[in-house]
Amino acid sequence: RPQLRMDPLAGLMLEEVPLARIAAAHGTPVWAYSAGTLRRRLATLQGALAEARLDAQVHFAVKANPNLAVLRTLGDQGAGADVVSEGELRAARAAGIPAAHIVFSGVGKTLAEIRLALSEDIQQINAESAEEVAMISATAAAMGRTARVALRVNPDVDAKTHAKITTGKSENKFGIAIGDAPALYARMAGLPGIRPVGLAVHIGSQITAGVGAYRTAYGHLADLVRSLRAQGLVVERVDCGGGLGIPYRDEPAPNPAALAGAIAATLGNLGVALMVEPGRWIAGPAGVLVASVILQKQGAGRRFLVLDAAMNDLVRPAMYEAWHGILPVAPADFTAPLAPADVVGPICESGDTFARNRGLPSLQPASLVAFLDAGAYGAAMSSTYNNRPLAAEVLVEGDRFALVRERQTQEALLAGQALPPWMAR
Ligand code: LLP
Repeated sequence: RPQLRMDPLAGLMLEEVPLARIAAAHGTPVWAYSAGTLRRRLATLQGALAEARLDAQVHFAVKANPNLAVLRTLGDQGAGADVVSEGELRAARAAGIPAAHIVFSGVGKTLAEIRLALSEDIQQINAESAEEVAMISATAAAMGRTARVALRVNPDVDAKTHAKITTGKSENKFGIAIGDAPALYARMAGLPGIRPVGLAVHIGSQITAGVGAYRTAYGHLADLVRSLRAQGLVVERVDCGGGLGIPYRDEPAPNPAALAGAIAATLGNLGVALMVEPGRWIAGPAGVLVASVILQKQGAGRRFLVLDAAMNDLVRPAMYEAWHGILPVAPADFTAPLAPADVVGPICESGDTFARNRGLPSLQPASLVAFLDAGAYGAAMSSTYNNRPLAAEVLVEGDRFALVRERQTQEALLAGQALPPWMAR
């Protein structure tokens, strides 16, 4: 991970900033993102697509990291946005991403969200059902607008990823069955307020088992493009979704060139404009979560490192049995002998465990540790469970860093609540 290095004096650094400095300035737990890594990874992806001679745009999946500074960093380098809610659409716009570079995905867009997408005149709405197509048509017609709509198809392929994040199988709630797509697409062309512009697919997330499933799915889409065109229908674009996995541990993972190759081999010669929607591949490795050790507790035959970060901050281990690298931050802790430890948070359930039997040194209270690859689905999935405030976020740029989201205050945690009048005293 080139953005991280161990300095013998300053300890673990993100770009040119010691994580200890960030913790001293803004407290812990704190998320830190490397702007250089965000840009480098986006550029690698854009380069791989160009290298494969694809006319393809990268739309960052905002759900992975909706921080405005992250979105601005990527948007400034030409990324569009894939959004799934009013909040994500507003964040992308607030970060300066043009509406013409925004795609709205998701299986259940509310009428209010459809209206907002239309009044902002975003690039494309990905519709996931005949029922939703009807809602978009009626809403757009009533507003005197025309929605550019892509149909998200469910190709019924197995992306061989964690069951909770696989999306392209027929039993999943996503998209419309590929067999039903031709009739619906043809019907869309005749509906008021709608211009069908193409197809979309997303088969799952954290895909590490090669690009075979992508190839299969894109092959089905290419067949569908040809058969729609044979019916005289216009297909201008194909949105290839996201899902490219990253090595959290040392597992092999496909690279952007392999993904670009799978797209080129299937959809490359159809003359369609292409999009990809990666979230994790761009943002995951760009971020760390820095936490402090509250205490080291010797249990019955086990050593527990109790941190001030918990499952409300980083839920991925509790939710998906996900593995995140955990490194000590101080130089002395880096060279100390390792022994197994369970790394846990202070929340009152056993699921609040980040790692079991992890080789870590003995760590005194207030020592720092860093969770690696925490830039995607980290802060984005935080909650305030146990009434714990949302942690601060920092952007690192070379030797500079800035607070890009303040730690939620205790006052803000209670704000918005009210007691019923009969309880007043
Ligand atoms: N496009 C669509 C329509 C999606 O549903 C998703 C992710 C993406 C793009 C981006 O996928 P990515 O490139 O980041 O894999 N919270 C889970 C991941 C959930 C992904 C949901 N959809 C985790 O922490 O592993």
